[in-house]
Amino acid sequence: MAPSQAEPTPVETAPATETIAAPLLAWYAQAGRTLPWRDIDDPYRIWVSEIMLQQTRVDTVLNYYDRFLEQFPTLSALAEATEDQVLAAWAGLGFYRRARNLHRAAKTMISEHQGQVPSDPEALQTLPGIGRYTVGAILSSAHNARLPIVDGNVIRVLSRVFHLAGDPSRSAMQKELWRLAEAILPGDRPGDFNQALMDLGATVCHPVNPRCDTCPLQSLCLANKLGDPEDFPHPTRKTKVVFQQRAALYIRDRDGRMLLTRRPDAGLLASMWELPAVDLQDGEDPAAAVTTLLPSAKRARKIEPIGTVEHRFSHRHWTVHVFAAENPVASSPLDNDQRRWVHPDDLHEIGLPTATWKAVRLGLKLLDAEQRPGESPG
Ligand code: ADE
Repeated sequence: MAPSQAEPTPVETAPATETIAAPLLAWYAQAGRTLPWRDIDDPYRIWVSEIMLQQTRVDTVLNYYDRFLEQFPTLSALAEATEDQVLAAWAGLGFYRRARNLHRAAKTMISEHQGQVPSDPEALQTLPGIGRYTVGAILSSAHNARLPIVDGNVIRVLSRVFHLAGDPSRSAMQKELWRLAEAILPGDRPGDFNQALMDLGATVCHPVNPRCDTCPLQSLCLANKLGDPEDFPHPTRKTKVVFQQRAALYIRDRDGRMLLTRRPDAGLLASMWELPAVDLQDGEDPAAAVTTLLPSAKRARKIEPIGTVEHRFSHRHWTVHVFAAENPVASSPLDNDQRRWVHPDDLHEIGLPTATWKAVRLGLKLLDAEQRPGESPG
């Protein structure tokens, strides 16, 4: 009798890289998102979108994108603007270094790149705020250049489809991700393909509860076959969040203007305007610390706490104790590029960071309550 032949156990394997593009592009044609920076080939507009989209959700960017481009419709309009104008248009989007880099890069494009967004990847990547991801996103969209992209969405898709173990923040894994992102790129529509990959990550291949039943790559995805997509990507090293207590002063002059001071020109919220504020040492009393911020201790008669605001940056969390004071002295002689007195009606001309807006709102509420005695501020 012939020995019985054992059935070979099927071994699941990762898909061949060239099999990804066709189903993904077909899916994109019917399920891709319609976004204002798609189906255009103006590298300036695409560049602005990609900088806004760094670390920021599409829904948030949509609230800023058109307005920003109305104010700065061309590369030269952006280059000719002042940094304060650019920061004011960016106010609320956060990560303000992006706005400063955008502005600096626009100036360099005018002075050194014939007034164009460079189409050469190496030249483009030398400009501030533009790394390999952004180069790939801009040039594949604007010129259909065959350049890959790797961002959070792409990492999730690739690490699942190819079942990649490893911490994506480590260089060996980064290298593999870029290699694969390039290998799966089709020759003919790399721009659409990159956009499709982002959309798949954003709308289907969710971090938890991925919608594998609607995924165009379901039959190719190794994590789907092995039933463990949510185990990918593997966790990254976490950067610790630093908690910082601060005291801030909402001081009003006789004309109802508040004092704003400029932050240092490097570091967090560099050169942005804020209420005068001080970082507290561990255990330091905010009420005592805030008195050091008074322009003239003798002149401010009354100082009172008006509330606390919390603000989370990527790796920093502020708890700001806000105090109000009256400065019964007229203001303007003190105005300069480091400090100025601003009326609430003129705040929109200044790019206030969100953390400052939260504190200013407490002051404005106080003003409201004072102006309507007997009424509750609501
Ligand atoms: N995130 C980064 N770039 C994007 C783009 N072009 N479309 C949608 N989301 C994005």
